[in-house]
Amino acid sequence: MGCLTAGEQKYSRGLEGVIAAISSISCIDGEEGHLIYRGYPIEVLAKYSTYEETAFLLLKGHLPNKKEYEEFKQQLKENAKLHPGMIDVITKFMMDAHPMDVIRSMVSLMGVFCPDKKEHTLEAKYQKAIRVTAKLPTMIAAFHRLREGKEIIDPDPNLNYAENFLYMMTGEKPDELSAKVLDIALILHAEHGMNASTFSGMVTASSLSDIYSAITSAIGTLKGPLHGGANERVMHMLDEIGSLENVKSYIENALAEKKKIMGFGHRVYKAYDPRAKILKDWAYKLCEMKGDLMHFKMGEEIEKIMIEKVGKKGIYPNVDFYSGLVYTHLGIPRDIFTPVFAMARSIGWSAHIVEYMEANRIYRPRAIYNGPIDLEYKPIEERE
Ligand code: CMC
Repeated sequence: MGCLTAGEQKYSRGLEGVIAAISSISCIDGEEGHLIYRGYPIEVLAKYSTYEETAFLLLKGHLPNKKEYEEFKQQLKENAKLHPGMIDVITKFMMDAHPMDVIRSMVSLMGVFCPDKKEHTLEAKYQKAIRVTAKLPTMIAAFHRLREGKEIIDPDPNLNYAENFLYMMTGEKPDELSAKVLDIALILHAEHGMNASTFSGMVTASSLSDIYSAITSAIGTLKGPLHGGANERVMHMLDEIGSLENVKSYIENALAEKKKIMGFGHRVYKAYDPRAKILKDWAYKLCEMKGDLMHFKMGEEIEKIMIEKVGKKGIYPNVDFYSGLVYTHLGIPRDIFTPVFAMARSIGWSAHIVEYMEANRIYRPRAIYNGPIDLEYKPIEERE
């Protein structure tokens, strides 16, 4: 039997270190803690760019000129509304559904309501990618309002992407700092190399499936607590800890029990996640403006103890540690943290999917077989 068996091939658990694509979209230096998108350090983009501009950069590969930027923003605005058929469906969902399940289903539904589903040109792929990114905030906000028994709010074409999301959630135009902090959080979550959800989307696309199916797969993968779901868990942990005084004993006990502290550790970063560094500063500004530094101080204390105890193992805060705090103080409900991650990351997913499809080869890894061979087939009557 020609089964692949242990010893013949090296098995990398969790595909650690396996190279699955060649990409010019982003680069992570996990040892030093650096991240660049298409050649630009994220610190620079967080300082000078906007989510819309960064989204263009990731998808198209260069910073837009003025005309391209205006057109791209316009495309996002024009595509933000949901098809009436999609609104019809979302109103029929169970209102206690998890919003990640809702957006996964709604993006899947976009394939059904797609006007150019038979078009597979590069331009059509860009169009579909832009549509998904444009509609995600509208879907999230629509479901949130429906479950609260409120009317859905249409996107406002006078607002930018981050402002519009907060507006559609609450019905109020956000203050400048809140909109800015969300914009930066979206930039920082927009792309992150070959992570689990991106890979999952690429695997789906590699069978020459469509962008909606690929992003549906990616959303399903992002949902888990080891990936996008960690920020929600960070806030549950802060609740459990309860006060600044309890932090030390809580963390020490959790580590002694070999529990994982949510918002810490990363497969690639063995230094401080550069996204967490940027978000931490903005989290402070936001909490200070809101007049509530409690969570921030607890976060700093957890960080201090964790670095003391496990920093030498390369475990530092990751982006999700401070994003949970930011979203909480933006008034975003906890179960919508991961959907916000998805709306930001949709563009990174699309960029990788489009890039991979340009030189596509179906993903088809193998498994080492460790089961039996040559078993005797017994008729059912003779089996125990
Ligand atoms: N708290 C305590 N110990 C940890 C943590 C943590 N958060 N993360 C890793 N470790 C320890 C782990 O116990 C193991 O120790 P030992 O070698 O003594 O058994 C060692 O570090 C390696 O951990 P691992 O689970 O094998 O690492 P991984 O690369 O498979 O997992 C991870 C990476 C992010 C899933 C993991 O660090 C984790 O579960 N973190 C908590 C969840 C989290 O914050 N996820 C968000 C990731 S950032 C957003 C994103 O990009 O998705």
